[in-house]
Amino acid sequence: MKVKALFYFIFLFMAPLYGSAAARLNMARRNLQVKRHLSRLNKNPIKSIKSPDGDIIDCVHISHQPAFDHPFLKNHTIQMRPNYHPEGVFSGNKQVVKNGVNKPKAITQLWHMKGRCPKGTIPIRRTSEEDVLRASSIKRYGMKKHKNIFRPTSTVSAPEPDLINQNGHQHAIAYVEGDQYYGAKATINVWDPKIQHSNEFSLSQLWILGGSFASDLNSIEAGWQVSPDLYGDNNTRLFTYWTSDAYQATGCYNLLCSGFIQISNEISMGASIHPISGYHNSQYDISILIWKDPQEGNWWMQFGNDHVLGYWPAFLFSYLSDSASMIEWGGEVVNSQSDGLHTTTQMGSGHFPEEGFGKASYIRNIQIVDGSNNLRAPKDIATFTEQSNCYDVQLGKNGEWGNYFYFGGPGRNPNCP
Ligand SMILES: *[C@@H]1O[C@H](CO)[C@@H](O)[C@H](O)[C@H]1NC(C)=O
Ligand SMILES: *[C@@H]1O[C@H](CO)[C@@H](O)[C@H](O)[C@H]1NC(C)=O
Repeated sequence: MKVKALFYFIFLFMAPLYGSAAARLNMARRNLQVKRHLSRLNKNPIKSIKSPDGDIIDCVHISHQPAFDHPFLKNHTIQMRPNYHPEGVFSGNKQVVKNGVNKPKAITQLWHMKGRCPKGTIPIRRTSEEDVLRASSIKRYGMKKHKNIFRPTSTVSAPEPDLINQNGHQHAIAYVEGDQYYGAKATINVWDPKIQHSNEFSLSQLWILGGSFASDLNSIEAGWQVSPDLYGDNNTRLFTYWTSDAYQATGCYNLLCSGFIQISNEISMGASIHPISGYHNSQYDISILIWKDPQEGNWWMQFGNDHVLGYWPAFLFSYLSDSASMIEWGGEVVNSQSDGLHTTTQMGSGHFPEEGFGKASYIRNIQIVDGSNNLRAPKDIATFTEQSNCYDVQLGKNGEWGNYFYFGGPGRNPNCP
């Protein structure tokens, strides 16, 4: 309060030098709000690493992470390993895969070039003042702007047809529904799609969904995204999202609110992925596995073959505290149509599925976790896209890739004006 009063005093005193006192007062109030919000988001680091992309990665003591600001987590004992892993035995910090070869992954995060976070800490991308100021409101920084709710069929609760194209969100996805799901896995090809307007984004991800789309949707999401509004650049970043009320009041990206409990000191949510696939060049992909611990009910996330990132505690959710009723995999972009034409924002590689490997974006080895907590190929995979002339999706199946699909597109083109 004292600081605030002093702040106002300084601005009132100086106002005649710069302009209207009211305007300065508003500015002072906003500055104070931003500072307060930043001090909530950015915890005192033990060490900080400056990434080549300009990010600062703070190594924060594991028990000081944002999750523990949540009143329900005040006395929480961090689970340092899952009780159960659908791929096999979890030993120490490394996953021992039951079936198949544990191939070394070249893919990593850009900040690793400049250092690592010590054990007992977690790497958190520091939020800057500019990050918060780009948001429509300080309070909603890190939350989805609109309800970008997607409903592919009418079997899921009360349909409101206009929701599908609300705010111009466009999808090219594969999905399963009509069963109880306890997790999902996929390997997602990483690209750097061009974004036409800074308020648009392009992402590739999987969604774990429960509840009804209208008001109380529960969703856990993870993948990569390019979002100039959220991060201030066009880099391809690893992200997660969760909500338990259809993107209204709960949830956020990454660690931008309390909820997700991170245990990994190696992977930073919101940090840039490196390297990225090139057209007609080397291809890079990331594996994401999300599964429900059958004992505690928490939802765990693994990145790659051996990075267990952490978990969303079961109490955050209503429907998902039981099981998911739908899983989606694929791409989403915002088509703001600012000049009356379809956006040129790309999805995936910016090329259509028929171009195939090395050119189009893919998601391969699509699996779900079934009622016996086993990973398996899903039955009856369906696809959906609002405008296949803009962004398309094409399913396939073979021995090595299991169930897969190519997806994406350039957005505006002669067939998508
Ligand atoms: C946390 O533990 C303290 C002391 O045991 C107790 O008084 C308090 O009610 C607990 N808080 C929660 C949210 O469980
Ligand atoms: C992102 O890319 C667009 C072109 O695709 C460019 O106009 C814009 O300046 C870039 N933004 C940043 C922050 O680099």
